[in-house]
Amino acid sequence: MKSKILEILENKGNYVSGEEISKEIGISRAAVWKHVKKLRELGYEIDSKTNEGYKLIRSPDRPVEFELERMLDTKIIGKKILFFEEVDSTNNKAKQIALEENDGTVVVSEMQTSGRGRRGREWHSPKGGVYVSFILKPNIPPEKAPQLTLVSSLALVESLNAMNNGLNAKIKWPNDVLIRGKKVSGILTELSADMEKINYIVVGVGVNLNTDQNNLPETGTSLKLEMKKDVSVNLFLKSFLEKYDSVYQKYLDGDINQIIKLWKDNSDTLGKNVKIIGINETYEGLAKDIDENGALILQVDNKEIKVYSGDVSLR
Ligand code: BTN
Repeated sequence: MKSKILEILENKGNYVSGEEISKEIGISRAAVWKHVKKLRELGYEIDSKTNEGYKLIRSPDRPVEFELERMLDTKIIGKKILFFEEVDSTNNKAKQIALEENDGTVVVSEMQTSGRGRRGREWHSPKGGVYVSFILKPNIPPEKAPQLTLVSSLALVESLNAMNNGLNAKIKWPNDVLIRGKKVSGILTELSADMEKINYIVVGVGVNLNTDQNNLPETGTSLKLEMKKDVSVNLFLKSFLEKYDSVYQKYLDGDINQIIKLWKDNSDTLGKNVKIIGINETYEGLAKDIDENGALILQVDNKEIKVYSGDVSLR
């Protein structure tokens, strides 16, 4: 109902009487007033004038449920979105509800109190950033789950580069997204599966959107810092989720080779001499390629070795 009222106010762009709205959507004028009150509480600035009615002055730039659902044009991703002002971790939240949710449900939060990064690290999650987890249920064997990380980093990098041509975002293996060599986003993929079947995959993406430098490490940046202006969280989420939807559909159609090709086109790691600190070992060599599950193929002296996870630095 609220989104219908918004639609009417938006289309009109001027004052619309409570009576006109009530007729158009078939509810009482008192009910219209109640919804308008609720919308104001959600951050919509709606002016009202006696004898003229209501006028939408400004929509909030917060991830408000139906604001995004109204704007979003997707088939699978974000058909249901759960919004939070604060959670411990959107990945935790997503895992709690994953079994009951459909493929493509998304959890979004404006901040996290216990954001988690790769390899047991903390992911500092202040206000200004946006924290998103995707619940995915593709029909694939568990060993292919890392491919969803490729899908996710590709979707993010493509959506960033479509938002602003000058950004030139790149993917640092395995799944960091960088702008001018500085980290703007990290991805944490978690899997629930038995031997041959996936129950669900949760892909968590943290993006430094409007984060200020004092809330970032030296090696980090934010979209606001790069674009030198505030970035609308709703517009960003629209662009990211729509791109995610199209890359994910491509993936479900079996087009992993195309996804890998595009991932490589956007890679900041391939072709460079790198040092990789793994869990137990450190490798140094030329980053030659990735395999179809996203493992890095490293040329070390005359041998090629596959590395499945680690932290990359340039040599
Ligand atoms: C990394 O670079 O180490 C990965 C960081 C992943 C952070 C995101 S924020 C949304 C989701 N919820 C979490 O607790 N972590 C991921």
